[in-house]
Amino acid sequence: MNTVPIMNPGSLKTDDDSRRLQDRLLHVSRLAAVGEMASGIAHELNQPLAAVANYAQACERLLGLPNPDLEEVRDALRQIAAQAVRAGDIINRLRGLTRAREARGEPSDVNSLIRELNDLIESDARHHQARCRIELAEPLPSIVLERTQIQQVVLALVRNALEALAAMPAAAREVRVRTGRAADGDVQIEVCDNGPGVSPDIVQRLFDPFCTTKPAGTGLGLASSRTIARAHGGTLEHRPNNPGGACFVLRLPVPTRR
Ligand SMILES: Nc1ncnc2c1ncn2[C@@H]1O[C@H](COP(=O)(O)OP(=O)(O)O)[C@@H](O)[C@H]1O
Ligand SMILES: [Mg+2]
Repeated sequence: MNTVPIMNPGSLKTDDDSRRLQDRLLHVSRLAAVGEMASGIAHELNQPLAAVANYAQACERLLGLPNPDLEEVRDALRQIAAQAVRAGDIINRLRGLTRAREARGEPSDVNSLIRELNDLIESDARHHQARCRIELAEPLPSIVLERTQIQQVVLALVRNALEALAAMPAAAREVRVRTGRAADGDVQIEVCDNGPGVSPDIVQRLFDPFCTTKPAGTGLGLASSRTIARAHGGTLEHRPNNPGGACFVLRLPVPTRR
């Protein structure tokens, strides 16, 4: 009679393999999130840089005239300085995010982590001609978490919402980011939109890597976000919004004190 091995002797190796795969996935998805963010930042930086180039050309042209109007040149130079400050501000916001990345697993207030993203979210929403409401429930208990990772999740969910809203008329587009407590005490962050909702074709595979309906999508946003949620002992789930659209709920457990 054949015996069926109860435990696969390779199972330890399989665990290792799957951990490595998860790590790689996390790495790839971090790159994807950074890429998405970088394209947003590039867009924001382009405007002040283009303005600097225009004003500099104007200065050159003005100074080439037989009787240059120095007041006009001075105005253009002031504009150049102002636009350079604006570009610097954008870079400082980025720095704020990288600093957070160095701090690993610190007790954090979820609301403050979302407040830090406020400017980025608002500029992304503006760029997508959508309104964004941020509603923070105070106070929330402190949770040990990797701030940048949770921020990546929120940004990925907001970006998905904004991309879904492209299908709606601009005046109606709305994203809501809300913090609060679940019935069992978990801290939760909800990102909801009033877009077309998740397509029924993919609702079962939504969190699978590479599941995407977008021509240039990576299909890694939700997969990596769920990996991050689970690494924090939490969950990331989808539910339809009412009356229409999609909601994504990130839940993070509050450590119990003994
Ligand atoms: N807010 C949303 N509304 C509608 N569909 C969504 C929403 N968020 C995600 N999806 C669907 O889930 C798919 C996977 O999302 P994601 O993992 O972030 O990858 P990507 O954004 O690169 O496609 C998207 O292609 C889209 O079809
Ligand atoms: Mg995405």
